[in-house]
Amino acid sequence: LYILDFFYHIFISFNIVDNVAGCIFSFFFFLFFFFFVFIFFIFLFFFFFKQKTAYEISACLVGSEMCIRDSTYTEDTRKVTTHRLMEMKLRGEKISMLTAYDFSMATLIDQAGIDVILVGDSASNVMAGNVTTLPITLDQMIYHGKSVVRAVKRALVVVDMPFGSYQGNSKEAVASAIRIMKETHADCVKMEGGAEIRESIERILSAGIPVMGHLGLTPQSINKFGTYTVRAREEAEANKLIEDAHLLEEIGCFSLVLEKIPAALATRVAQEVTIPVIGIGAGGGVDGQVLVMHDMLGINKGFSPRFLRRYADLSTTITEAVQAYVKDVKTQDFPNEKEQY
Ligand code: KIV
Repeated sequence: LYILDFFYHIFISFNIVDNVAGCIFSFFFFLFFFFFVFIFFIFLFFFFFKQKTAYEISACLVGSEMCIRDSTYTEDTRKVTTHRLMEMKLRGEKISMLTAYDFSMATLIDQAGIDVILVGDSASNVMAGNVTTLPITLDQMIYHGKSVVRAVKRALVVVDMPFGSYQGNSKEAVASAIRIMKETHADCVKMEGGAEIRESIERILSAGIPVMGHLGLTPQSINKFGTYTVRAREEAEANKLIEDAHLLEEIGCFSLVLEKIPAALATRVAQEVTIPVIGIGAGGGVDGQVLVMHDMLGINKGFSPRFLRRYADLSTTITEAVQAYVKDVKTQDFPNEKEQY
């Protein structure tokens, strides 16, 4: 009654009606009118969103919870570029990165929706069986890079510059980077180090080659560190890492890997720099995560650092499959009638 009375006075003052019955009628008329207008806009809203891909919808919902929930973009087949990584950081979408060294694995992980594939110099360990990453050569990295690039349709492909291909002088560094880009057709290169390799990075960048930096535990310097333990726990090393991160951003690196450093330090760096920071053993406060594929698939079971999460036990699967095959061959169960010509 109070509401009706309110509307009655409004209708009367605008000369819409001049009696109570007319007022009640007009009230319900306007009520239904606004209800249908509301329904119409709801319909328009859903129609508009239905026309968009999951990627575009989440781009509309920047910063919202829905953006994070819908961030797997399995139907988004557009090529990932350095520019798109920057956009992902801006809208708070985490970047997924894994290593790959050959065509078959790169095909699988690209189709599974990984954002970045790193042809890491960890190939020296997991593919060649070396104790460190130091022995792998530029030619070997180019071989792995070519195999991966042939497989990849969507992910950004980064090739590690191997030890000895850029530390000597900047002229040699740019020649190595140009060989990687020309021969592998990868999208960019990754280099370990900060201020000490500034000139090399700048020269490579000025040749138009995007560079991803790598700070913290840099395995190519393992002989200097003498241990694979967490880096930058001490204030002096932490300060140097922060300075280096700013330097890499300033000179034009498009992204940065932080390896095995305290989570709080990595979070601080990711907040202070505008380029995407991808962590390995650097906590969840960074813009993305990278793991060595053989470790996360449980192929390489001898390596179990705290930061590693295993998503499969391929070591057991492969061992059991091979044992079954050996048994079938020995017992002459394989091949059977249907498995021959
Ligand atoms: O070579 C590699 O696999 C790497 C990652 C550990 C970041 O550099």
